[in-house]
Amino acid sequence: MPIIEPLLNENRIFHPSVRFAEDASISSMSVYHTLCQEAAQDSSGFWARLAREQLYWKKAFTKVLDESNAPFYKWFEDGITNVAYNCLDRHIENGHGDKTAIIFESDDGKIKRYSYHALYLRVCKVANGLRSMGIGKGDRVVIYMPVSVEAVIAMQACARIGAIHSVVFAGFSARSLYERIVDLEAVLIITADEQVRGGKSLSLKAIVDEALSMDRRQLACHVLVYQRTGAEINWHPTRDSWFHELEAKQVDICEPEWVGAEHPLFVLYTSGSTGKPKGVQHATAGYLLWSIVTMKWVFDIKANDIFWCTADIGWITGHSYGVYGPLAAGTTTFLFEGTPTYPDAGRFWDIIARHKISIFYTAPTVIRSLIKATNTDETIHPYRYDLSSLRLLGSVGEPINPEAWMWYYQQVGRERCPIVDTFWQTETGGHMIAPLPGATPLVPGSCTLPLPGIVAAIVDEFGHDLAAGQGGILVIKRPWPAMIRTLWGDPERFKQVYFPEELGGRFYLAGDGAICSKETGYFMITGRVDDLLNVSGHRMGTMEIESVLVAHPLVAEAAVVSRPDEITGEAIVAFVVLKRACPNGEEAQRLANTLREWVGKELSLIAKPKEIRFGDNLPKTRSGKIMRRLLRALARGEPITQDTSTLDNPTVLEQLKHAQ
Ligand code: WTA
Repeated sequence: MPIIEPLLNENRIFHPSVRFAEDASISSMSVYHTLCQEAAQDSSGFWARLAREQLYWKKAFTKVLDESNAPFYKWFEDGITNVAYNCLDRHIENGHGDKTAIIFESDDGKIKRYSYHALYLRVCKVANGLRSMGIGKGDRVVIYMPVSVEAVIAMQACARIGAIHSVVFAGFSARSLYERIVDLEAVLIITADEQVRGGKSLSLKAIVDEALSMDRRQLACHVLVYQRTGAEINWHPTRDSWFHELEAKQVDICEPEWVGAEHPLFVLYTSGSTGKPKGVQHATAGYLLWSIVTMKWVFDIKANDIFWCTADIGWITGHSYGVYGPLAAGTTTFLFEGTPTYPDAGRFWDIIARHKISIFYTAPTVIRSLIKATNTDETIHPYRYDLSSLRLLGSVGEPINPEAWMWYYQQVGRERCPIVDTFWQTETGGHMIAPLPGATPLVPGSCTLPLPGIVAAIVDEFGHDLAAGQGGILVIKRPWPAMIRTLWGDPERFKQVYFPEELGGRFYLAGDGAICSKETGYFMITGRVDDLLNVSGHRMGTMEIESVLVAHPLVAEAAVVSRPDEITGEAIVAFVVLKRACPNGEEAQRLANTLREWVGKELSLIAKPKEIRFGDNLPKTRSGKIMRRLLRALARGEPITQDTSTLDNPTVLEQLKHAQ
């Protein structure tokens, strides 16, 4: 019988092998149900037990959850701890100082290894260095760096002294970086001279210089530069200093700043449905707790595992499962500077074979692009590599289509490795709906069941529960420790976006649509219900891209939608009206390229539209509202079946249909 009845029409089901289940931390569905029951019957007791078992507390907490000012929930509030201490010192004290904490491979294949003790010494020095610059508890530090050991050290050093870091993905433009620096009133930016990916280098320092040159308010911001390539860079003697020089001057003992459990650990910006990105604020203890617990439950982490999460540190996945989760759980984590296709599309399989990676966690987009590459070049087929070290595979960032799931399962995992399809978000801090690999029967395309303690449900637009089998809006009905605390500097927006009055103001609104199986309670995510796009697992707002397009001197109006894409999941299609006559032929091509480059430069390389269509106008209602549904149908090449009677300018549809 199909598990997800009409949803996927999917009747393949994969049970964990007896061997995998025997060794797993959660070894059967009955253990899973017992945990769910424990959480349902005594939620405070459940979370308190986990927090006591998994974290080191300098001073124990006496309160578990404070709901008095909901939705501004507080967890373990009177407890005192430090994240860096939990990630480093305690492993050394437990006799694991010599264990490898990080294996790093650069774009050009150079390898560095750090034991927990070696990493600890560098973090202490850099933390002392930051203190010597006058940085301390609560100060904001922007990290604009490539994936590197130094970026991890920067994050840990901030956590050690109670500074709040904000990692900005190094593909973001100078303007995006500037907006984040201003929003945070950051006192320091840590960057690198260059970033190297796919054999190409890019000057990050030059982008930081450009970002700071936009500042008319003369923010008192210092710049610390990690020397990655030694390339020549501009130097501002009063503002800039070298990472290695600062580190070399310090002693390697650094008393942590003991902070309250609710002290902000970091702010990570993510796209919202308006143009302005949202600074998602996470708290110290709750965030760290869930990152360890999910490492243990979902990744079933063991002492000998070598864990590789391919996400960049600039995204939440890189935070929770590239840095904080693995280190807090005492795991050996692998970090890679480069791209999946350099020097060829076998790079990831080659890395797995050489480093004996046992758990591999990546995005569906990567899998799909490697499937495509394999179809044209047999020599990089995963079968050509020794992938016998793998025991578990993971997927994150977007829905994984069943074909990609099956390929991953058969060709990469050789039908031995369970796949954990993990649904979660920047705001949730860690996994929410995901299989437990020793227990949960897997169905391709479904992220399966909510984790114990996570009360997920599907409701209609008024917050009423829907019967299983009906598609609706995904909400989380009870708070959990790793949840977003607020939006940096904008508590009102936090309430409106995540706890909207329409849903009664009590449920966390994920922003995704989902459907749940009648038979099994399995979830399938059907995609965003707001104006967000998901391109290659990267979240972007249509408004963000539109506002950058209309900021171009030639553009009068722009509307951005998406269409499905074989590789990237969704692809961006922009409809543009110029201030001059609508271009055709070669001129249209040339202008489309100009605008694409503009978006790359002004916003981010990942936000460049795949297609730009020009028209004399956009389809609008008589009240002037752009009819996006029509644009979506046009972008997808679908016939227009919607009612167009409210359209003010129907002729424009024909033009946009054919425009290229
Ligand atoms: C989508 C990334 C389906 C979803 C961790 C969510 C997924 C958004 C999955 C968050 C999954 C993430 N299946 N969709 N397994 N994982 N998503 O904040 O739309 O970058 O809301 O966090 O990605 O993206 P974010």
